[in-house]
Amino acid sequence: MDATWLKLMLGLLLLITCKALNPEGQNLLQLKYGFIDSLNHLSNWEAKDQIPCSWTGVNCTTDLNFFVFSLDLNNLNLSGTISPTIGMLIHLSYLDLSGNQFSGKIPGQIGNLVNLEALKLYNNNFEGEIPHEIGKLVNLVRCNLCNNRLSGDIPDEFGNLSSLVEFVAYTNNLSGSLPSTIGRLKNLTIFRVGQNLISGAIPAEIYGCENLEILGLAQNALNGQVPKEIGMLSNLREMILWSNQLAGTIPPEIGTCTSLRTIALYENNLIGTIPETIGNLKNLENLYLYRNGLNGSIPVSLGNLSMAKEIDFSENELSGTIPREFGSIKGLKLLYLFQNQLTGAIPVELCDLKNLTKLDLSINNLTGPIPVGLQYLTQLNQLQLFNNFLTGKIPPKLGVFSRLWVMDFSNNNLSGQIPRYLCRHSNLILLNLWSNKLTGNIPSEITFCKSLVQLRLGSNSLTGSFPLDLCNLTNLTTNRVGSK
Ligand SMILES: *[C@@H]1O[C@H](CO)[C@@H](O)[C@H](O)[C@H]1NC(C)=O
Ligand SMILES: *[C@@H]1O[C@H](CO)[C@@H](O)[C@H](O)[C@H]1NC(C)=O
Ligand SMILES: *[C@@H]1O[C@H](CO)[C@@H](O)[C@H](O)[C@H]1NC(C)=O
Ligand SMILES: *[C@@H]1O[C@H](CO)[C@@H](O)[C@H](O)[C@H]1NC(C)=O
Ligand SMILES: *[C@@H]1O[C@H](CO)[C@@H](O)[C@H](O)[C@H]1NC(C)=O
Ligand SMILES: *[C@@H]1O[C@H](CO)[C@@H](O)[C@H](O)[C@H]1NC(C)=O
Ligand SMILES: *[C@@H]1O[C@H](CO)[C@@H](O)[C@H](O)[C@H]1NC(C)=O
Ligand SMILES: *[C@@H]1O[C@H](CO)[C@@H](O)[C@H](O)[C@H]1NC(C)=O
Ligand SMILES: *[C@@H]1O[C@H](CO)[C@@H](O)[C@H](O)[C@H]1NC(C)=O
Ligand SMILES: *[C@@H]1O[C@H](CO)[C@@H](O)[C@H](O)[C@H]1NC(C)=O
Ligand SMILES: *[C@@H]1O[C@H](CO)[C@@H](O)[C@H](O)[C@H]1NC(C)=O
Ligand SMILES: *[C@@H]1O[C@H](CO)[C@@H](O)[C@H](O)[C@H]1NC(C)=O
Repeated sequence: MDATWLKLMLGLLLLITCKALNPEGQNLLQLKYGFIDSLNHLSNWEAKDQIPCSWTGVNCTTDLNFFVFSLDLNNLNLSGTISPTIGMLIHLSYLDLSGNQFSGKIPGQIGNLVNLEALKLYNNNFEGEIPHEIGKLVNLVRCNLCNNRLSGDIPDEFGNLSSLVEFVAYTNNLSGSLPSTIGRLKNLTIFRVGQNLISGAIPAEIYGCENLEILGLAQNALNGQVPKEIGMLSNLREMILWSNQLAGTIPPEIGTCTSLRTIALYENNLIGTIPETIGNLKNLENLYLYRNGLNGSIPVSLGNLSMAKEIDFSENELSGTIPREFGSIKGLKLLYLFQNQLTGAIPVELCDLKNLTKLDLSINNLTGPIPVGLQYLTQLNQLQLFNNFLTGKIPPKLGVFSRLWVMDFSNNNLSGQIPRYLCRHSNLILLNLWSNKLTGNIPSEITFCKSLVQLRLGSNSLTGSFPLDLCNLTNLTTNRVGSK
């Protein structure tokens, strides 16, 4: 027999007895051709295998079909692109390519993976649009595309993802307006698309997302009003809409979202009054409305926010007095009302807030004295009351019970002496009493403030000598003690 012919026969025999790599494996190898695997993490992806089930990142069904149901290649330093072959792996229910340096587009063929339940493509360099074929993934429960360079609209087909529970696509270049089809997603619980270029209004249809808990759309270009329909989202816990161009008034219906823990509407163009219905939000912990154009007075109903920890209404045009009812929010830690048009006295009830850590009422038209009781608040470390019309003495024991860090009472009409104990805990970095009517000596205890960076005591009627030991304060950069 001819030797060549024999070789051929033997080869044929081998091919028949040792089965070749199954189609799932061949598709994976096709996919690998598009990857750059400089650290050789996928070296065990080999054509000589019959099935790919022991390959790095690959899981198969245990039946004789050996279907690939999961592909997890997260954080393997892979780069390159995803070939359309991905669409052949139709048994995938789990696909995780996160934390690599993949680039190029997400192929539309991904829409063929109709069994997909989890799609994780975050922390890569994917660009181009989210393929509209994604709408075919009716079993998709979790989708995370954040930290890529995706651009274009969120497609209308988004509303076809009927199983979707979690959609995360923050920090991309997505633009256009939100599809109104989002309202069809009854199971959507988490929707986080902050730090994109999304414009237009928040669609009123969002009320259909009856399970929504987290709505994250901060740092976009949204305009129009906050839709009143948002009040129907009774499961909403976090409303994160800061740094957009939302206009008009805050709808009173917000007070029916009784699961809310955080409202972040700061840095928008909101006008009108703060709805008193916000006082109904029994679970609210954080209320951030700063940097808007809100006016009118602060509703007393806010005293009913018994779970509140942080309230920030600074940089608005609020007028009227500070409600004494704030004193019933026992767990309040931060109260910022600076840069408004508030008048009247600082309510003594604020001294009941045992956990108060930061209080800033600066740049208002407040009158009357600084409540003496503030000196007993052990957690208070930041107290800023500058640019008001406050009179009377500085509470004499300020600094005895708390580790003061920043204290600014400048530009008021305060009289009496500088309290002696401000530096007892050596924690103060800023002490500004500039431009008041203070008298007496500079207490020598000021030199205990080793950490002091800024000290301004001028424009007062202080007498006596300048404590020379002030020169020992090594970190002091601004020291304006004189009258000029
Ligand atoms: C795939 O298999 C590995 C090893 O058996 C296991 O740790 C992992 O959880 C599986 N992944 C999925 C998505 O089932
Ligand atoms: C990825 O690459 C970085 C730097 O090149 C290295 O520190 C890291 O260990 C690599 N990770 C893996 C999973 O290979
Ligand atoms: C988004 O687009 C802008 C301008 O079109 C570009 O400068 C920026 O680098 C892009 N960002 C990302 C993450 O691709
Ligand atoms: C998917 O969404 C588009 C646009 O919203 C719609 O026209 C189409 O009928 C939907 N397809 C299915 C199968 O529901
Ligand atoms: C929505 O969630 C419920 C409860 O988890 C589940 O029974 C239902 O099948 C889900 N709907 C869809 C379309 O996935
Ligand atoms: C609040 O501002 C609006 C216009 O933005 C004005 O019509 C209204 O009178 C103001 N209300 C108060 C109490 O100042
Ligand atoms: C606070 O809540 C109580 C009981 O829920 C209610 O009677 C009262 O009117 C509320 N106060 C304000 C100022 O809204
Ligand atoms: C005050 O803070 C402490 C410590 O964080 C906490 O245990 C306590 O519950 C707070 N008090 C109130 C009234 O929230
Ligand atoms: C606050 O004081 C300034 C300066 O004296 C004054 O122009 C302004 O009208 C006052 N505003 C209110 C609401 O009292
Ligand atoms: C504060 O002092 C200035 C200057 O002495 C005075 O004109 C003003 O009436 C005082 N204001 C208050 C509220 O006492
Ligand atoms: C002075 O500033 C430096 C740098 O910020 C800091 O590390 C150091 O602790 C400060 N000294 C005191 C006495 O606070
Ligand atoms: C400041 O430094 C001088 C000279 O080094 C020293 O005599 C004095 O005791 C220091 N004062 C304090 C308060 O540390």
